[in-house]
Amino acid sequence: MTERASSGTPAGVVTTAVGQVVAAAGPVLRLRGVGWSVRGVPIVEDVSFDVREGEFIAFIGPNGAGKTSLFNLISGIHPATHGAIELDGADITTESVHGRARRGLGRTFQTSSLWTGMTVSDHVRLAAQAAAGPGASYRIWRRAGLYAPQVTETLERTELAHRADTLAGALSHGEKRKLELAVLLVSDPRLILLDEPMAGVSAEEVPALTALIRSVHRDLGRTVLMVEHHMDVLLGLADRLAVMHHGTLLALDTPAAVMADATVQQAYLGEGL
Ligand SMILES: Nc1ncnc2c1ncn2[C@@H]1O[C@H](COP(=O)(O)OP(=O)(O)OP(=O)(O)O)[C@@H](O)[C@H]1O
Ligand SMILES: [Mg+2]
Repeated sequence: MTERASSGTPAGVVTTAVGQVVAAAGPVLRLRGVGWSVRGVPIVEDVSFDVREGEFIAFIGPNGAGKTSLFNLISGIHPATHGAIELDGADITTESVHGRARRGLGRTFQTSSLWTGMTVSDHVRLAAQAAAGPGASYRIWRRAGLYAPQVTETLERTELAHRADTLAGALSHGEKRKLELAVLLVSDPRLILLDEPMAGVSAEEVPALTALIRSVHRDLGRTVLMVEHHMDVLLGLADRLAVMHHGTLLALDTPAAVMADATVQQAYLGEGL
């Protein structure tokens, strides 16, 4: 069914091709003129886009283009110095990282964020506890079984059940990335930001990790934003491709349209896509 927003209708109302008026689900995430300057130097500038429920958007761009900085603004690690960010229609521009997480926004980091001396299952259990809120803090160690079903399910989904008692430091790079995903998934986020989930992963481990991310998107129905340099990986996953360049959003469209875009090609001359 083709849907078209008819001119003159209020926001959130869509007239379909056959004239039916339906309530349109708003974007999950909306950025309007978002920017971040550090000591007057702009790092991210005037970024605006909407993310639809269930969408997968891959972010590309040269080193230093501002991809991680943009994810930091969306997840609340740095407050935006310009513009506004909405999650499910609520203004979260000044909301804390935890507040955004409680609303269903979760992220992984470009560099590993694991405790090498802690087991795989303890990582996931602690994340489940953190998601349950501060009231659960002391109960967890007395009643370690409290989160056992969640932990088991998450480890099975991320293909780490056989590594439950292994220390994170003993995992392969691919398994570490899976564990970071497990830590994220156990808190049940609806909007997931993945910053270079393949970084440091061996070529043999990339297909399994790609399949896992695809299943989080398709089978669990999560909305995903992902920074990734591996074009072969992201072209098989992404509905839309976003190109960052010198802190701005240069293009956001279907992968085919972005690859054919003359401005994008020009921006990448000498830098390689
Ligand atoms: N906290 C900060 N203070 C000052 N400058 C920063 C800070 N964080 C990032 N930058 C600068 O902002 C620019 C964008 O960095 P960012 O890490 O967002 O790029 P990126 O697109 O993620 O690059 P990469 O592909 O290498 O991960 C860089 O020039 C970086 O040095
Ligand atoms: Mg980065």
